[in-house]
Amino acid sequence: MKRFLIHTFGCQMNAHDSRRIAEVLYGDGYEQTDELELADLIVFNTCSVREKAEHKLVSALGRMRELKRARRELRVAVAGCMVQEHGDALLERLDLADVMIGPDNIPELPALLRDAQDGSRRLARIEFDLDGPRFLTANARPDGSEVSAYVTVMKGCDERCSFCIVPYTRGAERYRPAEDILREVESLAQGGVREVTLLGQTVNSWHDPGDASPEAARESRFADLLRAIAARVPQLARLRYTSPHPRHVTPALVRAHAELELLPAHVHLPVQSGSDRVLRRMIRRYSRAEYVARARALQAARAGLTLATDIIVGFPGETEADFEQTLSLVDEVGFSTAFGFKYSPRPHTPALKLGDDVPEEVKAERLARLFERCDVTQHRHLQSLVGTRTRVLFEGASKHNPGDRHAAPGAERAALFTGRTDRHEIVHVQVPTGCELTGHLLEVEIVEANRRSLLGRVAGELPAHARMPPAPSPATGSATRAPRRLPVVSV
Ligand code: 5AD
Repeated sequence: MKRFLIHTFGCQMNAHDSRRIAEVLYGDGYEQTDELELADLIVFNTCSVREKAEHKLVSALGRMRELKRARRELRVAVAGCMVQEHGDALLERLDLADVMIGPDNIPELPALLRDAQDGSRRLARIEFDLDGPRFLTANARPDGSEVSAYVTVMKGCDERCSFCIVPYTRGAERYRPAEDILREVESLAQGGVREVTLLGQTVNSWHDPGDASPEAARESRFADLLRAIAARVPQLARLRYTSPHPRHVTPALVRAHAELELLPAHVHLPVQSGSDRVLRRMIRRYSRAEYVARARALQAARAGLTLATDIIVGFPGETEADFEQTLSLVDEVGFSTAFGFKYSPRPHTPALKLGDDVPEEVKAERLARLFERCDVTQHRHLQSLVGTRTRVLFEGASKHNPGDRHAAPGAERAALFTGRTDRHEIVHVQVPTGCELTGHLLEVEIVEANRRSLLGRVAGELPAHARMPPAPSPATGSATRAPRRLPVVSV
């Protein structure tokens, strides 16, 4: 049996693609390993959103050189956005790669590997599926061990944000039919999945590709999709989506947040900058005031709703005054989390012609100030939750060990589980050994706030079904759930 290992860089879409790569390889008789030495095939699923991600790939590949020299039969595949960006030329640059596939060519990987088997040929398959978009379907794990799964609803991007390479690496927007999405969510839920995250580069621009209204009149039908999922798959515990574009936060979507309990009290809504001048130069197609109005509408729709965001610092021409506008926006909206990035010039993008005039030290200093400001808001927010009760969906056993200060009384040995609240905060909970919280949605009392996570204890009695590990499953014959095997993700 041949074994593969996948190393994933970048966003959730890439993590999701890695799952599909794994499924395609399982289908071809491979099995997965986490150990480099045991792998016959190493797949690098690449990211090109910032230059740093590309550097990381090059150095990760470099570390394979010795291994490949020692084991001539080892094959290396490179997948994802970098492949799409550079095309065949990347084969020359990355001499260790045997095969390369673009993001739309995942199903072709096994055939390419067979053709490159003897190591004499190096092959690339890089083509968008613009005419007949394919959306690979996720299958629930046979052992029912997966709590949370991704489902793609659209791919590609028609926005032309001036800094962003995605339209060039993922192509034009293509939408998936509602019925396919509903069927996939339903089958995942039947397979034990409790939480589904709908994925797309501008996920909330979704409409059914069968929608006959003229292109110009067509607007987002994303809220209808959320309602259809809630109606069709009532056993689902949570329905998330990422990443929405502020432009498509329609009144219908805001209403869905007020009415559907299934939607979490959290939205990741990238803003990029708090300065109108910079937003215009970024071609974001909204003003600061419009963004704030939409953020406020979401916050008003659902009590306690938190917002996370993405921010770029050091965009060409960004002045100290522009950056201060961003800091003031962080305070005004009160983001629970902000992901900050230093502007990185990318090939093909319109912003290239604006130059890259903010010095590296200024970018670094602004990023540090941004994080400092966000840390204060985040910590204040987490502190405010101490003493409250909140629902937590448990995702699995925790690696983190906060000691046994919060162990259930009388517990001799303790097991630690990690989950997320409706607002997406991470919560660790300690319970007596033998309990299995994975997949359970439980009421938890928050007892302490760490820097980025919370400690809690299950409120009241543990429900009987969470006290014991699940019965042996016929698929695995094992009394405990298989450890979750997530692809390694680094940015
Ligand atoms: N430079 C820096 N950050 C970028 N992002 C996208 N393109 C760039 C770039 N050229 C950030 C944006 C986006 C996130 C996924 O990555 O904030 O929301």
